[in-house]
Amino acid sequence: MQVLVFDTVKEASQKAYDVFKEALNNGSKVFGLATGSTPETLYDIMVQSDIDFTQSASINLDEYYGLAGDHPQSYNYFMNEHLFNKKPFRANYLPDGKNTDSANEVERYNQIIADNPIDLQLLGIGGNGHIGFNEPGTDFNERTQLVDLAPETIEANKRFFESANDVPSKAYSMGIASILESKTILLLAFGEGKAEAVKGMVEGPVTNDLPASALQNHDNVIVIVDKAAASLLSK
Ligand code: PGA
Repeated sequence: MQVLVFDTVKEASQKAYDVFKEALNNGSKVFGLATGSTPETLYDIMVQSDIDFTQSASINLDEYYGLAGDHPQSYNYFMNEHLFNKKPFRANYLPDGKNTDSANEVERYNQIIADNPIDLQLLGIGGNGHIGFNEPGTDFNERTQLVDLAPETIEANKRFFESANDVPSKAYSMGIASILESKTILLLAFGEGKAEAVKGMVEGPVTNDLPASALQNHDNVIVIVDKAAASLLSK
């Protein structure tokens, strides 16, 4: 695991942009993408740049169960607003939150990932160490799954909704096994609220109590953090 520490979110996001640009220049065609506050600056930098994704496909990590793609709190809507409307891709794939046949949706999404092996997967990390919506206790062998969101995730994400009661309690998420099949993984974490999870991910034991620790089992992981998120690392 390569850990790079930057003074500011802007500088860290610029480095993340450089990783995307280099991957694209080296022939990467499929990009795994993430939502949340963490990648917003990176997506802004992409939008303002000349990066060209018209020959690329994107595959998002997760989507709230029950929300249609045009719902303002859906991750599909977030991606359209922050990136896809301004930077077109050849294809954009996200789980379909409105598909109530979860076995069918899981199979559909796993097939998409199998047909489009991910070259570079972008990740954030939850304060509880989740990646995607793979919450503590998740089985590292899972591929796409319908998950119950942890109470702390609902609490953290309620800022985007009217109240905690409006946050969906379930989501479709790419599983840890699928994430680990990506050729390169780029994880971003900013702010002191992520410091403990970052420490566990980098220096702690590999345990499904902290899903991001599974990344220690992958040999091509770049972690880009700001000083606050790095503050508990021992070196
Ligand atoms: P955030 O979420 O980027 O909004 O902090 C990250 C995550 O929960 O994976």
